[in-house]
Formats: sequence, structure tokens, C-alpha cells
Amino acid sequence: MTRVRLRRHRIVNRRHAAVAVLALTASLLVGGLAASNATSAPGGPPVEAKVNALLAKMTLEEKLEQMQLLSDGQITEADAQKGVGGVFSLTDPQKINDLQHVAVDKSRLHIPILFAFDTIHGFRTVFPIPLGEASSFDPGVATADATFGARETAATGIKQVYSPMVDVSHDPRWGRISEAAGEDPHGDQGANYSAADKVVASVKHLAAYGQPEGGREYNTTDMSTQLLYNLYLPPYKAAVDAGVGTAMCSFNAINGVPGCANQETETDILRGQWGFDGFVESDYTAVAELRACPPVNPNSGPCGHGVAADGPQAAQLAISAGTDMEMVSTNYVDFGRQLLAQGKITLREINDAVRNILRVKFRAGLFEHPYVDVSQAGAAQLRPDAVAAARAAASKSMVLLKNDNSTLPLDSTKNTAVIGPLGDDQHDMLGPWWGTGRPEDAVSLYTGIKTQSTGTTTFTKACDLPNTEPPQYNPADDCPAGAGFDQAVAAAKSADQVVLALGETREMSGEATSRSNIDLPGDEQQLIDRIAALGKPFTVVLFNGRPLTLTDVAAKSPAILEAWFPGVQAGNAVADVLFGKVNPGGKLPVSFPVNIGQVPIYYNHEPTGRPCDITSKYNSRYRDLNTCDPLYSFGYGLSYTTFSFSNLQLSSATMSQRGSVKARVNVTNTGSRAGDEVVQLYIHDPVASISQPVRRLRDFDRVTLQPGQTKTVSFTLDRNDVGFYDNMGKFVVEPGQIDVYVGDSSQATMTKSFTVSR
Ligand code: BGC
Repeated sequence: MTRVRLRRHRIVNRRHAAVAVLALTASLLVGGLAASNATSAPGGPPVEAKVNALLAKMTLEEKLEQMQLLSDGQITEADAQKGVGGVFSLTDPQKINDLQHVAVDKSRLHIPILFAFDTIHGFRTVFPIPLGEASSFDPGVATADATFGARETAATGIKQVYSPMVDVSHDPRWGRISEAAGEDPHGDQGANYSAADKVVASVKHLAAYGQPEGGREYNTTDMSTQLLYNLYLPPYKAAVDAGVGTAMCSFNAINGVPGCANQETETDILRGQWGFDGFVESDYTAVAELRACPPVNPNSGPCGHGVAADGPQAAQLAISAGTDMEMVSTNYVDFGRQLLAQGKITLREINDAVRNILRVKFRAGLFEHPYVDVSQAGAAQLRPDAVAAARAAASKSMVLLKNDNSTLPLDSTKNTAVIGPLGDDQHDMLGPWWGTGRPEDAVSLYTGIKTQSTGTTTFTKACDLPNTEPPQYNPADDCPAGAGFDQAVAAAKSADQVVLALGETREMSGEATSRSNIDLPGDEQQLIDRIAALGKPFTVVLFNGRPLTLTDVAAKSPAILEAWFPGVQAGNAVADVLFGKVNPGGKLPVSFPVNIGQVPIYYNHEPTGRPCDITSKYNSRYRDLNTCDPLYSFGYGLSYTTFSFSNLQLSSATMSQRGSVKARVNVTNTGSRAGDEVVQLYIHDPVASISQPVRRLRDFDRVTLQPGQTKTVSFTLDRNDVGFYDNMGKFVVEPGQIDVYVGDSSQATMTKSFTVSR
């Protein structure tokens, strides 16, 4: 990587936010969670003066304590009294207040603790998983999630959240693909995070953690400069532009340099190029993991990267790279004094780190309001407005993958058989990173359907999908075919309509959940086959946290609804869609492969000299596949109505280097129901100094149309859209032709071109 400027993307603006789904989500989530980069607390001296005044009073030990972040399992009163900087995962407001009293009343300098939590898609009111929210292609969904998440988190006394997670991924084997917005880099905080209902966001994980080799969690990443700059860095940059207060460095190494020892990403790019002035915390024991593992006794604690010989060297590398706070491991406090005495780190490095931490604490209003009103914390959770927003978010996030012969919507007056291991489930509906959500908060699919149907609703589990974790987990225990399948067939026979609730447990996606096989777990496919053999229309509703290989599912099922893990309102939201109260309008933010061997397959790939062609041999194809495409492409999704696109026009045939071109297109609802269409604009630069991706999403707009209604949607393209980063990391806008494609998915065919002049 080279040290050059990453250009500003105007992603905070709604239109240009569209330039990359994940970057948009990042800025919106930052906006919803906190709210500004306030430089002074109301009525007091500027934050920087307060920071420096406090820093001047601190001993070296007190400074090193501020740089320590401990978990709920580690923290003691003694740590609080010594002046520990942060504590994460503690969610009992009384315990939070008690510890805060020790820090504020008993530590020498009375510096409050910053309490943090992984509010990823909701604190108690759990929203759909982020990959689901990205499917809404509606920025309002991410904003609502972050706003209610911040309110519930802050009411508990927690002032920092470890989100947004903005790691772009092209690998569905990787379980954390569920936590971000997919394969395009477009994607949390408000205007002043000292506000009582706001928190400081932490964008993570810097950087490129979404692309571990082989899709295997925590694995290394080797990546070209242009790819890093064009695809992986923009969402972090968007979060910084939106004022994100903190950031987390990643477990993985890029090109051999681990995220928490990476001066280039943590300091040169984040602070130098982007102007970030908050603090960076390490991920869990990531500083200790910089150490080499001993050859004989590998169980000597976290280790493995092998860029440091021991704890002191790990601390030295991390501090010098720009990791301000160490999570869980304690090398900073253990070895900081020694490193300073040896001249291996400087006092300036320590002071800079502590300044970054104190700056955020002052901005967060922690010194003025260190305590939480414990009596109000419970009442702030699961409030009706948050629950209603979670329901709307969930139905907006669903993607209709298949609907032969208008199998959907279902008739709410008929008898419905709900079948499958996830059919009356509450636990899994919350998905990975369920915050403080409880299974009993969640509405199961069976309950949701029963509530909305005037016919008889039955539930037959058919098989179990256990929630066991490795090393006890055994794939053979997943939904084994047995007598339950016969009961399911009998239930299907006696019903008018059948809903199969299949997919993954929440334990199958999220952190440390890579899968080498992304088929439906266990014998779920056999269950589909048994029901399909009845010749009765049925619908498969999928709950899952990653793209699955659905080729066999699609071959047998007339209708498939991708519901992701929808959160607390799962059953109500799915029923809203199944019965047509809500017309599904979500689109895939990630490609669904035909089979696992196609991975990685993603829409924004680079071209080759021998593009895939299934009619011949010597080209970039798989011999044993009769397609060049994934099963379901990025941007794809059906509706209960139909849409047509017409009259694509560009405002000009040329664009100057500083100018812009407007693209307009008409979209018409050609069916008989109101519905939403996501109008998507892609570009391709056919001749460039480095091969350009075959398509790049540059903007989108989700519009609601009544039957017969036409709307004109317009998008503005400028240099930020047509330019790219070269292999030196330099943003270039090259003269020449730009092809524009507009339509309802990444396979859009309606096209017009313009020329970028010199
Ligand atoms: C995860 C982070 C998370 C942290 C604290 C780590 O294992 O990678 O995303 O914020 O734990 O819970």
C-alpha cells in the first residue's frame, strides 16, 4: 500500500450515499447512533483545553490505565479505582453505576469509565441482521435501527457501541457476512453524542476483515492496493466523514501486517488522510495475538501472528501503529513503563493515545453526566415505537426470490400448515449479535401467521435444529429425516396452503461461524422434496445469515422468501409479507451462488481476457456448470406486482472533469398492486489504465408506485462516481467512455453512454 489520499466520497448525501450500499449504511448508522463531532461541551471551555489540562495532571500509570479496556468478566472495583479507561459487555445499569461511582468518586482524577457494548442490530429491540437491512435498499431502515439501538443502549448507562461493522465481503462461507451490508461497499451516529439518547459509534474492523482467505474466520488477507481502496476502505471513510467517534482495528492481517499493528491503516490513512480524531480500540486480545506462539506450549494465551516476540514487543507495535486502547489483554499496562524507559515508545505516543480517549469522553458528556437513571433503564426498552420500527424494517428487508404462479400472497382465510424447525422458533429469529434481546421478546412465524389468519393454522416441527456450538456441534444432528417428516407430510396434506420455515440457527452465522458447505443444513432439503412430492403449492421461508446454495431448493419450490434473521418482530413481519399486507421490495445485497465451488462470485468483479462463455471451452468458465451467473444476482428481488423501465436519458453526452451528468429513467408499476421497486444505476468504464469492474453500483432509489403509476427517477454522476483508485492508491478520473446501466438488478440491460472529457 502507498500513502496517498483517499478521495472524499459524498456519501453522507443520500444520493451519493448510494454509491456503495455499505458506505451508506456506515454513515447512516453513525448518524442514528450519535450525532456530532462537537468540539466543545455546551457552555464550557473547548474540549481540547480540557483534555490537555487533565492530561497534564496524569501520572504514567494513570495514562496506561486509560488505555486499558476490560470485559464484564474482568472488571473489578480495584480497576475502576485505578482509573481504567473502558469496560465492555456489562449491561446491568446498577452495576454500571456502582463501578462508575468508584471511578468518579474514588480514582485520583475522577475520570469516568466509558462503558461499551456490541449493539449491532438493536440493544433489546432486535432489528433484522445488517445483511437483511441492506436488502431493504432503504437508508431509513438502518437509521431507525441505530436510533432506537442508541436510545436503549444509552438508557442502560452505556455510551459506546461497537458498530457499524462495515466489512465488505465476497465470501458467504464467512459467518460475519451477516453483520455488514454485503458485497458492495456502500452503508451509524446522530449530531451530538453527548445527548442522553445517543452513544458514540465505533466503526470496525479496520481493515478488510471481510475477505479472510478461504472464507475461514480470522484468516489472513492478501490484497492489492487498488482493491483495498476501491472496495474495502470506502465504508470506513464514509463513517469517518459522518463523524464516527471511535474505530476498532481488526484481528486479520493485510499483506502480512495485522490490523492492530498496522500504522498505514490506523494512522496514515485513518488519521492522516481522513482526519479522524477519535480513538482506536483493539479487537478482543488482538494485541496479545501479535505475539508468536511458543513452539512447545501453544496454550500460553492469545498468540499467533508472529510479528512480535513477546508481550512488550506486541504493546510497542500496537501503540506505535495507533491502537489507543487494548481490549482484554493487558500488555499496555504491564509493559508500558518498561517500553518507555527503554526508548521503544515515546511519551508523545502515550499522550496522543490518552488525548484521543479523553477527547471522546469529553465529547460524550461523560464528565457532566457519568451516571444513568437506573429507575428509567427498563422502561426505555422495547417501547412500542421501537417495536413498530423493527417490524417495518423486517418486512422491508425481505427478498422474494421466487413466486411461480403467484403462489404468494397467501389467502388469510384458508387453512395453513406451518412446517419446519424454525416454524415456531423465537431464539433464532434474533440472529447473531442479539444484544440483550431475549427469545421471549420475539414473535415466531407460527404465532405471526395464526394472528393474521382467520383459517386454521397448524405447526409441525418435522425435525430439530440444535443450537450446539463447536466442538460439540455435529452437522449430522441438524434436522435429521425421521418420523417428524411423516407428520409434516400429513399436516401438509390436510392444509390448503403450506409454509416451510427452514434455514440456519443463529449460532451458524456471526463471529467464528465459517461454513465449508452453505447448503440448507442437515436434511432440510429432503423435507422440501417430501412436501414438493405432494404437488401442492408451498412457500419456503428462509431464516439465515448468509447466502445459501439454493439450487435444489429453487428446483423444487414454487415460492421462496428470503427473510434473513428478522429480529423481535419476525413472525409478524413475515406474515405481513406472506399475506400481502406488505408487498416485498427488498433486493439482494450479495450474490447467491449456484454451488459452493463458484465462491467467490460477485457482481462487481474485474473482467478477464477470456470472459465466461458457456458455449465454448477456452474461457473463464467452470466445465461442469452451464452458467456464468450466480443463482440469484446482486440487486435481484421480485414483487407481487411488476415494473417496467423506459426512456433512459442522459443530460449530456459528455462530462467535464469537474462537471456532472444526470441520468433519468421512468419506472412504471405495470401490475395491479401497489409496490416498491429499487431503481439501480450501475456504470462500467470499458477502457481504463487498470481493468475496471464489469459493473459498479453508483446509486439507487427505492420508490413506491401505485398500480399504473409512473415515476421519473434521476441520479447525478460526477467525478467521484466515474473515477477509481489506481494501484498506487491514487484517485484518478480518466477521460473516455462510461457506460451507464439502469434497471432492477445488477443484470440491468438498459444502457446509454457518455464521455468524460480531458
Ligand atoms: C469481535 C468484535 C466485538 C468484540 C467485543 C470480538 O470478538 O470481533 O466485533 O466488538 O469481540 O465483543
